[in-house]
Amino acid sequence: MNKNHTTQHGSWSSGWAFVLAATGSAVGLGNIWKFPYITGENGGGAFVLVYLVCIAVIGIPIMMAEVLLGRRGRATPINAMRTLIVEASASRFWKIIGWMGMIAGFLILSYYSVIAGWALSYVTKSALGEFSGASAEFVGATFDELVSSPLSLLFWHTLFMFMTMFVVARGVEHGLEKAVRFLMPALFILLIVMVGYSLNSGGFAQGASFLFSPDFSKLSWTGVLIAMGHAFFTLSLGMGAIMMYGAYLPPQASIAKTSFLIAGADTLVALLAGIAIFPIVFANNLQPGVGPGLIFNTLPIAFGAMPGGVFFGTLFFILLVFAAWSSAISLIEPMVTWLVENRDQSRFKASLIAGVLTWALGLGTVFSFNLIADVKMYDSTFFDLLDFLTSNIMLPLGGLLIAIFAGWLLPHIMSLDELNLDTRAYSLWRFLVRYVTPIAVLVVFVNVTKIYKIFGF
Ligand code: PFF
Repeated sequence: MNKNHTTQHGSWSSGWAFVLAATGSAVGLGNIWKFPYITGENGGGAFVLVYLVCIAVIGIPIMMAEVLLGRRGRATPINAMRTLIVEASASRFWKIIGWMGMIAGFLILSYYSVIAGWALSYVTKSALGEFSGASAEFVGATFDELVSSPLSLLFWHTLFMFMTMFVVARGVEHGLEKAVRFLMPALFILLIVMVGYSLNSGGFAQGASFLFSPDFSKLSWTGVLIAMGHAFFTLSLGMGAIMMYGAYLPPQASIAKTSFLIAGADTLVALLAGIAIFPIVFANNLQPGVGPGLIFNTLPIAFGAMPGGVFFGTLFFILLVFAAWSSAISLIEPMVTWLVENRDQSRFKASLIAGVLTWALGLGTVFSFNLIADVKMYDSTFFDLLDFLTSNIMLPLGGLLIAIFAGWLLPHIMSLDELNLDTRAYSLWRFLVRYVTPIAVLVVFVNVTKIYKIFGF
């Protein structure tokens, strides 16, 4: 095992700190904002089932692969891959894993920050009591008003990017570890409060059946791709973020155990969010397929109606912002560390450069909800297309390459040594990364016609 676990950027104080930080990266808008709305758009139960299968047979093995590559390479993904390529005597082509990941993180953060901005603005709206006793119509109109104002979106997006770059500039040891330790459990508890509310909302049976009774006639191949892409997105896989954190993992920590814990916590949060939201959708005769505004159109109704709703609502959106914050940091970390390691920038300057570029690209998403909402490419707005390209193409492709590299190219003695599993578990892992992940990703890609359109054949 690689005993030298201190990198130029510091090291986690323990394996537990790695779990917290990686959970901080995994649990974010993906669980609470994205999972419910894409489930709503893709018909419910069958989509959820495919997503859960993808987490189990693709997500967890790829997470183990990423952590092991990170711990072995001990640097920003691009440089970690350089070291691993030498160890595996592989072609330089494989550096593409690091490059594509860094670019994917940058692209994702550009829109992630805009959505996190919505959550920020809902902190103030809730605190001011705007939702007290509000009807579904009022709540819907409030959301429409927010997204149709480029200036408001711009303000909140800018604020969120500032917050992100502030933490990133201070470095791993100072900000990252501490923030997640209290906030993740708090978010979890609050979600349980929300589920408690939903149990009595009158829509619970319908919501639960929407989420958990699969009807495969409602699921298209594109839906399957979105479920698979989301398994990567929600676990922060396929772009080197987890590899980056793996670089800080102490040598004695178990990769399998930590990966199961992180994936388990992440999945639980997504399911709780779904169970909290869909009953509200049905109790208020709303449509599950309204798109990215789903949680902002539903949860405030519940906060408006429950006792202590101003307090719970404000707290919920604060925690959502924190969950998004700890994820945002991991989206930009590969780019920042790359600028530090390869371009000799100070951490502060590297954060500034990465932040400004991301902020600027984010303007595309800001305007795609208002000024350029009618400009469509391949039937999608700028935001939709960016999301599709990153979550459904770049991350699965990154995951596919990581699987092939870890399963086929890295000498098996190295993965065996890092994973430190018994023979049966190791063989299962190896089978999943060598065959199941690559074949699953390719089969899904081949069946989605939108991909052909985007790439012009
Ligand atoms: N996993 C995060 C979420 O679910 O919100 C998003 C994310 C973070 C994706 C980091 C990818 C990543 F590398």
